[in-house]
Amino acid sequence: MALWCVALWLFVSTVKVCHGSDDICGMCVCRYGYVDCSNMDLQYVPSFPSDTTILKLSRNRIMEIREKDFDKYPSLQYLFLDNNRMRTIHKNALLPLSNLTYLDLSWNDLSIQVLDNSVFSVLNSSKIEHLILSGMNFTLNDQSLGGLKKTHIRGIDFSWNREICDLPNYTFSNMQELRMVSFRYCNCYEFNPLTFINTSLEFLDFGYNHLWKIPEIQNTTFLQILRLEKNAIMDVPGETWLKFSSLHTLNLSSNSLYTIHDDLVQNLDKLETLDLRGNRIETLSDHPFKSTSLRVLHLEDNPVTFSFIYHHEVFREAVYLRELYLGKFETVDFMFEILFTNLTYLEVLHIENVQRFTAITRETFQNLPRTHLEAIARYWTFGEPV
Ligand SMILES: *[C@@H]1O[C@H](CO)[C@@H](O)[C@H](O)[C@H]1NC(C)=O
Ligand SMILES: *[C@@H]1O[C@H](CO)[C@@H](O)[C@H](O)[C@H]1NC(C)=O
Ligand SMILES: *[C@@H]1O[C@H](CO)[C@@H](O)[C@H](O)[C@H]1NC(C)=O
Ligand SMILES: *[C@@H]1O[C@H](CO)[C@@H](O)[C@H](O)[C@H]1NC(C)=O
Ligand SMILES: *[C@@H]1O[C@H](CO)[C@@H](O)[C@H](O)[C@H]1NC(C)=O
Ligand SMILES: *[C@@H]1O[C@H](CO)[C@@H](O)[C@H](O)[C@H]1NC(C)=O
Ligand SMILES: *[C@@H]1O[C@H](CO)[C@@H](O)[C@H](O)[C@H]1NC(C)=O
Ligand SMILES: *[C@@H]1O[C@H](CO)[C@@H](O)[C@H](O)[C@H]1NC(C)=O
Repeated sequence: MALWCVALWLFVSTVKVCHGSDDICGMCVCRYGYVDCSNMDLQYVPSFPSDTTILKLSRNRIMEIREKDFDKYPSLQYLFLDNNRMRTIHKNALLPLSNLTYLDLSWNDLSIQVLDNSVFSVLNSSKIEHLILSGMNFTLNDQSLGGLKKTHIRGIDFSWNREICDLPNYTFSNMQELRMVSFRYCNCYEFNPLTFINTSLEFLDFGYNHLWKIPEIQNTTFLQILRLEKNAIMDVPGETWLKFSSLHTLNLSSNSLYTIHDDLVQNLDKLETLDLRGNRIETLSDHPFKSTSLRVLHLEDNPVTFSFIYHHEVFREAVYLRELYLGKFETVDFMFEILFTNLTYLEVLHIENVQRFTAITRETFQNLPRTHLEAIARYWTFGEPV
């Protein structure tokens, strides 16, 4: 071990790969405070230069963090320990890392006891901002994140923890600087509404769960991005959205929505991107897209296209729309000219799989002067079907 450390040391501050006599060293990349020893079959935390600020030990076979492993590295700011086999972390091991802002422990075998004793409670007086805790199947208890409430934590990633969703009350409450949380792929059916009280979240990811309604979370006033794709949501009543006054991106793709209520976009007056692809939307209300903020709208892979026959004017009130994705069209002969009237800012119109159109000519799109027609061209040459 010692040999390759010396080699690391020698080559630090020049852009080089160390060439120690040790195989391991031959693969570590070290330069200007950056050390990357990923994928090296390491079983323990190696020694490295004491001025290292970024240390990557991803994808090794480390099972344990020992008490003194990080003793001599007070400069460390970014530490990647993901994809190892860690079961234990000594309770004092992370204490010396007073400048640590980013810690990735994902895809290890850490229990909530180890996390509580050796990570959460130790980071209570640290500079930690981002914690990546994916892929470990732990369940938080009501003390777990208490210590973090005193920190400047900004982002926590809990994705791929299949048993985490039964969250205790007030888990994140009063984390003043928390902006991003991910529960992607967490097997959630419901979500405790009392978890985010007194936070100012901007980004929340619930994608790839089993939610059947929009989580009734508190303090959503600052939320800008909400990801709810790949859930089982069937309906989104308009009044749900009144609390989301800053939302600019809403991803509801691959749910089970069967309709869009008028007040979805009307209540979201900052909404710019709405993704509704892959739902079961068949019917539309009278003014589903009445919005001056909406720029990007995805409606592909819905049976909705049928009802465009009866809703010629459905897009007319989305006057500033830049991109419109309609995907597959199986219906024939409705009035394209009318459907796209007023979309004078449209830049991308994506229509795929057009079948049996006989009435479309270049003139059909003449009131869309700046529009780039995507996909349709693959199936259709203006004036004559391919
Ligand atoms: C920790 O960070 C502070 C502020 O960025 C810096 O002044 C100090 O030198 C750092 N400590 C070490 C040991 O690098
Ligand atoms: C952090 O937690 C430890 C152990 O729980 C405790 O002894 C210490 O006082 C706490 N520090 C702060 C600043 O809260
Ligand atoms: C987490 O749980 C899932 C399903 O229960 C399982 O497939 C996976 O292997 C578990 N992961 C770990 C790291 O224990
Ligand atoms: C969480 O709070 C709700 C409402 O105050 C209460 O009914 C519930 O029992 C609490 N749950 C736990 C686990 O404390
Ligand atoms: C939220 O903040 C308010 C005002 O600071 C405070 O009175 C209330 O107790 C806080 N709620 C929780 C659950 O901490
Ligand atoms: C959170 O919401 C409650 C009730 O709606 C409100 O009293 C409180 O001021 C809000 N806190 C923040 C940080 O927005
Ligand atoms: C919505 O989520 C799906 C699935 O993760 C993704 O493919 C798509 O790009 C997202 N939509 C937007 C507008 O980002
Ligand atoms: C078309 O857009 C204009 C603004 O550019 C707007 O005043 C008018 O109401 C729109 N037409 C319809 C049918 O919404």
